[in-house]
Amino acid sequence: KTPVAILLSGRGSNATALIKACAQPDFPARICLVLSNKPDAPGLDMARAAGLETVAIDHRLFKKDRAAHEHAVDAALRKAGAEVVCLAGYMRLLTPFLTTQWAGKMLNIHPSLLPIFPGLHTHERALEAGVRIHGCTVHLVTEDMDEGPILGQAAVPVLPGDTADMLAARVLRQEHRLYPDVLRRYLHTRYPNRMDLSRTDSPTAADAALL
Ligand code: GAR
Repeated sequence: KTPVAILLSGRGSNATALIKACAQPDFPARICLVLSNKPDAPGLDMARAAGLETVAIDHRLFKKDRAAHEHAVDAALRKAGAEVVCLAGYMRLLTPFLTTQWAGKMLNIHPSLLPIFPGLHTHERALEAGVRIHGCTVHLVTEDMDEGPILGQAAVPVLPGDTADMLAARVLRQEHRLYPDVLRRYLHTRYPNRMDLSRTDSPTAADAALL
């Protein structure tokens, strides 16, 4: 299984979906680290409870030195042996340092059908724009925010009477399905010979806790 690290800043529901997927014996990834820039992120507690390796690297301790924070994040990812990084609600803008270090190996999930509605408040903006179809995107991370090559998308209808919260919940259900699907496809494409599916990896204790 390919060692994958998750970066998050909050709730961690997408991280939970990825962790559950990794519990499947035939899923080609295992989570080697869950890292947050926010020490109090609920997603970190969830990962810890699942028995996973976690680390908080609080960006506030680095004052305004983005580069120093990113060097610390990069060092933690390498120490954990990560080969692929999944951003899952990691709400920090990345500098070219991290995007170059992990070029082609860092995925992000974004709550809109990119290239429309990059950035924040995507559900409010979708309602304001009057679109009838909305959704989520998993893409490779590049220097330009929310602009890397698209790996997969899932669409949902915008229904009459929708509030931003209702729409967000509908999209989120698709996020939880899309991210593991895309990660699986990405890993099979990137490492076609790596996972011998005839071998059954038994779930780790961390995996079992979430089954
Ligand atoms: C998700 O909806 C994700 O798509 C979004 O933040 C939420 C995190 O939720 N990401 C972004 O907006 C990135 N720009 P989660 O912590 O429950 O996975």
